[in-house]
Amino acid sequence: MRNLINTKGALGLRSHIVLCALIGLLLPEVFARPGSPEEELSHVKLRLSSLENRYRHLCNQYANLATNCSGPEIKCTECPAWWFQVGDQCFHLSTDRQDWANSTKNCTEMGGHLAILTTREQHEAVEKESRSIGGFYTDYWIGLTDSETEGDWKWVDNSELKTPFWNALKSEPDNNLSGGPEGEDCVVVDSYSQSWFDVPCSFLYPRICQMDATPLS
Ligand SMILES: *[C@@H]1O[C@H](CO)[C@@H](O)[C@H](O)[C@H]1NC(C)=O
Ligand SMILES: *[C@@H]1O[C@H](CO)[C@@H](O)[C@H](O)[C@H]1NC(C)=O
Ligand SMILES: *[C@@H]1O[C@H](CO)[C@@H](O)[C@H](O)[C@H]1NC(C)=O
Ligand SMILES: *[C@@H]1O[C@H](CO)[C@@H](O)[C@H](O)[C@H]1NC(C)=O
Repeated sequence: MRNLINTKGALGLRSHIVLCALIGLLLPEVFARPGSPEEELSHVKLRLSSLENRYRHLCNQYANLATNCSGPEIKCTECPAWWFQVGDQCFHLSTDRQDWANSTKNCTEMGGHLAILTTREQHEAVEKESRSIGGFYTDYWIGLTDSETEGDWKWVDNSELKTPFWNALKSEPDNNLSGGPEGEDCVVVDSYSQSWFDVPCSFLYPRICQMDATPLS
């Protein structure tokens, strides 16, 4: 009886050693760094976040240097895929057409808002993007409306209009009643002429959504 137990025990021990040696040969890294997959993951996450920090730090330093040496502008921020960046802002031109209210909703649900265009640089970037899309439409909703008080133009963030880009050739805004008795309380940018037109809010146009660029992380 004793003998049998001993033999069985020795056999079990031997096969255990062989198994470990085999695993050790096949997966040396598992043995080199003992720890659960969770520990391993948190270790990798820590390394990644430390590398990201160093990259962000370097990018900011490099951007500073480029500015001081009048080099090309370097952005240490990023926009989602299919959005383009102007300064610290991201913009997206849609291809589907909605009325103004649904356009506002769509931008909000994507985590942004209808575009608040305040600079010529933004208009130029919109024109470039619109040409590269190459669609039929050149007019896009922006987040400007006077639906509360006629003639009192307000951005979707409730700020006052300070830098207008109305189309002067057509004497915009004209609140033209030909589109309906409610007049024209919403605004599109004609991307090609880089100027604005007031139009009825119920008309269907593609839109420009906007959001803050996020710091590199
Ligand atoms: C760039 O210039 C600013 C102010 O002129 C200075 O504070 C900063 O340290 C400079 N950055 C580099 C990288 O030289
Ligand atoms: C706006 O969105 C609502 C809900 O999705 C829809 O029922 C309505 O038809 C849309 N309006 C237009 C003009 O597309
Ligand atoms: C917003 O519009 C895009 C098309 O540009 C569509 O894919 C997306 O589903 C819409 N999102 C919402 C929340 O309406
Ligand atoms: C209003 O729009 C119609 C149709 O586009 C145009 O014929 C008319 O001249 C416009 N009225 C004004 C005052 O601009």
